[in-house]
Amino acid sequence: MWTLLWLFIFQRESNNGVYFAGMFRIANFEFIPEYRHTDSTEFLSMATKIANVVNDVYRKSPVSKLYQQSVISDISTNNKGGLLVHFWMVFVVTSMNSHSLCEECVGAILRDSVHTSLLNRSSVGFLLSLPVDIDSIVVNAALRSEYTGTDAKCVDDLYAGRPGTRLPLHVSVPQGGLLCHVKLSTTPGYLARLTIASFAIEPTACVSSSLTVYDSLIPLRTKVLYKVCDPVNSASNFSLVSTGNVMFLSFSLGQGSKMFIGYFEAITEKSCSSALITLGQSASEGVITSPHHPSFFPPQCDCTWEFQTPDGSLGVALTFHNYMLTEKGLRGCEHGWWRINEVIYCGDYVDHHTVFRVAHPRTEIEFRCSSKFSDPPLSAEYRSYNISEPCADGHFLCSTGLCVSAERRCDGVDDCLDESDEVYCSKPPCDGFAQQHPDYACNGVRDCEDGSDEANCTQEVPCTPISYRCRNGKCIRKRNAECDGVPDCADKSDESHCACGRPAPVRARVVGGSEAQEGEWPWQVSMHFAGTFYCGASVIAADWLLSAAHCFSRDRLSDPQQWKAHLGMRSQGTAKFVVGIRRIVVHEFYSARNFDYDIALLQLSSPWPLALSSHIQPICLPPSSQAVPAGHNCWVTGWGSKAEEDKDLPQILQKAEVQVISQTVCKGRYSPVSPRMLCAGVMTGERDACRGDSGGPLSCREPSGGHWFLTGIVSWGAGCGRPNLPGVYTRVSKFAAWIREHIP
Ligand code: ARG
Repeated sequence: MWTLLWLFIFQRESNNGVYFAGMFRIANFEFIPEYRHTDSTEFLSMATKIANVVNDVYRKSPVSKLYQQSVISDISTNNKGGLLVHFWMVFVVTSMNSHSLCEECVGAILRDSVHTSLLNRSSVGFLLSLPVDIDSIVVNAALRSEYTGTDAKCVDDLYAGRPGTRLPLHVSVPQGGLLCHVKLSTTPGYLARLTIASFAIEPTACVSSSLTVYDSLIPLRTKVLYKVCDPVNSASNFSLVSTGNVMFLSFSLGQGSKMFIGYFEAITEKSCSSALITLGQSASEGVITSPHHPSFFPPQCDCTWEFQTPDGSLGVALTFHNYMLTEKGLRGCEHGWWRINEVIYCGDYVDHHTVFRVAHPRTEIEFRCSSKFSDPPLSAEYRSYNISEPCADGHFLCSTGLCVSAERRCDGVDDCLDESDEVYCSKPPCDGFAQQHPDYACNGVRDCEDGSDEANCTQEVPCTPISYRCRNGKCIRKRNAECDGVPDCADKSDESHCACGRPAPVRARVVGGSEAQEGEWPWQVSMHFAGTFYCGASVIAADWLLSAAHCFSRDRLSDPQQWKAHLGMRSQGTAKFVVGIRRIVVHEFYSARNFDYDIALLQLSSPWPLALSSHIQPICLPPSSQAVPAGHNCWVTGWGSKAEEDKDLPQILQKAEVQVISQTVCKGRYSPVSPRMLCAGVMTGERDACRGDSGGPLSCREPSGGHWFLTGIVSWGAGCGRPNLPGVYTRVSKFAAWIREHIP
């Protein structure tokens, strides 16, 4: 009878219950071990005391009529001392008044009730009788299932005590289809470290299986430390560290056998700052690292390092392994905020090393973690360097801070890793030696009168970034050998995968463009987010598309379930095939600050039917050696704005012919332009991509074989179609290996 009644109340509540989860810190209260046990009298009496205060606050608030109750679920502590209170709040609404309960409003009621004194300038004030840290208040909208925990079929609670013991954590389910919740805590004063040794799941961008790690004891959206969506194995294992002494793990395990192996331990919190570091003259001196190195570092941290060199002629050089500092602009820093002698920089992950030099004998460096989630470990080697001569004799100083042999300047090879050794170069004359120059040799353009630069191109050479790699591993000089209609490799592999980039002939053959013909660009895809056209993409395989990372990188946009791909379409709404997205792979180094690595792979929920091949077809992917000489004509296509100021988008697919622009000219117009970018347009403006074209193709036709290649992906530009400000595209050839890695 009682259960029934309870069920009834619950049922009724569940239809219109609105749930919030939250956390705040009570200062000046000492944490006692009994608080860990929610059935202890100590916990119960403290929880009742806190709940009474929260109840009082909300019962006197404008939403008092809707307020039901608060439940204190856990009490922990962190390095700031005091108590960290985790709580749930339940409101009951009708459709009439549900609008008055926004997340911000409910949080603001709590925050506004804390009375702080202007005198002592502390963030701790009084919430009725409780000293609460106003900066610590977090209130997130939550789901009923999270509140009741009813969906979780397995729950566990692990306590690691002090450093020195590793508690194994194994989750193994033969069938899947399970939600597991694990609470981890350590003795107050220590931090929690979770090591993920292996996680056997299908990579589905967290749709079917995932592990979410929280920096709290309940699943608070704004306290996510990390989300694991991809399988982890011995080569990719890693550790995460909390900011307090607790963690909450939420395993969502889709159908099929799933297995997690890892361990959990308490670690001592160490300061990442260090006392004054005095440098000598020697070559290599030491390393500074992100907190808890080599674990990932949490979203909040602050480290300061001070350096002193022996005299005014020596500065400090920091060598980063795959990280780069650039001066901060208007945008915030996504992967680390740096203050170096009062100048602010942002850090971004890149795929090469860089050297940052501070031309000052005394340097103060402050590093603050600034990402949304935990970030991979960072380290920098420091040493002193000669300010008047940063590079040894006969060396050239790159913008990346690297020193390369002066002979490498203007040799056509990007030795600096940001092309700074290859801009503002005059083209060498066409003498015997110049014919070997990467700007001339076997790039498909007859640069020298006698044609010698295009001779002997099928000659086998040691593999370099500008040689074409045949499938048998041998390399030849001809850079654009792929699908050019001539077998060049001894094994003919360069012509063996060419069912791409060949639209059926159309009768004739963006800003300043014209309407495309039916079937003219069969690889063009229209990407729709929550039912609305948002970006372009290109078909590159039976179930894969290539697009721009910036179309998919923000919160909601990263959810594959919100997206639909429209294939084989000329006029919006008439697609031959509309399909969902199974998985979105955004490049790990994509930076929303400078649009570097602006590339994303999209896996379709199901392949497009071969029967539609007259309307849908993949475009060829350029090999990493692809040369696209400046002046080459290519086409940009999309349903984006026809003019910068246009609000309406065209119905019919637009096409515009644009020219590839040399990297030197492009860098002269914009900064920074990375080697992963390519400029195309017309210097008068007129023809360009625009808002809505992003992610779509820059298609270039290989002259001899007639196949179309996906040379670029629409990425960014200043306005649209402005004179001297060309469109900037992702240089797809730079991602040949990355694409191959992700597409089986
Ligand atoms: N970022 C834009 C988009 O989201 C594309 C901008 C291209 N701009 C240009 N001038 N080419 O659609």
